[in-house]
Amino acid sequence: MSERTLVLIKPDGVARGLVGEVISRIERRGLSLAALELKNVTEETAAQHYAEHQGKPFYQSLIDFITSGPLVAAVIEGPRAIAAFRQIAGGTDPVEKAAPGSVRGDFALEVQENIVHGSDSTESAVREIALWFPGLG
Ligand code: CMP
Repeated sequence: MSERTLVLIKPDGVARGLVGEVISRIERRGLSLAALELKNVTEETAAQHYAEHQGKPFYQSLIDFITSGPLVAAVIEGPRAIAAFRQIAGGTDPVEKAAPGSVRGDFALEVQENIVHGSDSTESAVREIALWFPGLG
C-alpha cells in the first residue's frame, strides 16, 4: 500500500548543495515525488512544524536554524514511504545513530544541522503534509 511522507531538506542541506543528492537517493530507492518546493520558512510555520519540541532546550536554536535560509519541502510517496525515508535519512544524531550510507551518516556531524527531516509516523505525516502543502489532495 502506498503512503506519503513529508521531507524537508533543511537550510544546511540547501546551502551545501545537497538537494540533488537527497532527491536522487529518494528516487533511486523507488519512491516518487508528489510535491516539491523551495521555501523561505516563517517563524509561524516553523513553530507549528516543531510544536512537539516547544519547551526543549534546543527549541529556539532549532527555530532560528530552520528559518535561517531557504529549505526544500517535498512530499514523497510509495510503499512504506515513512519508514523507508527514515532509513534513507539515518538516525537524528549523525555520528551516534546514523549509519554510513544514510544521508546523515554520509554528510552530517551535528544533531541540529542534520540535513533532512522526515515525518516519524502516519499521524505526523498527515499533519505535516497539511501544514506544508495545504492544497495537496
Ligand atoms: P528533525 O528530524 O527535524 O526533528 C527535530 C529536530 O530537532 C532534529 O531533526 C534536529 O535537527 C533537532 N534536534 C533534535 N535533538 C536535538 C538536540 N539534542 N540538540 C539540537 N537539535 C536537536
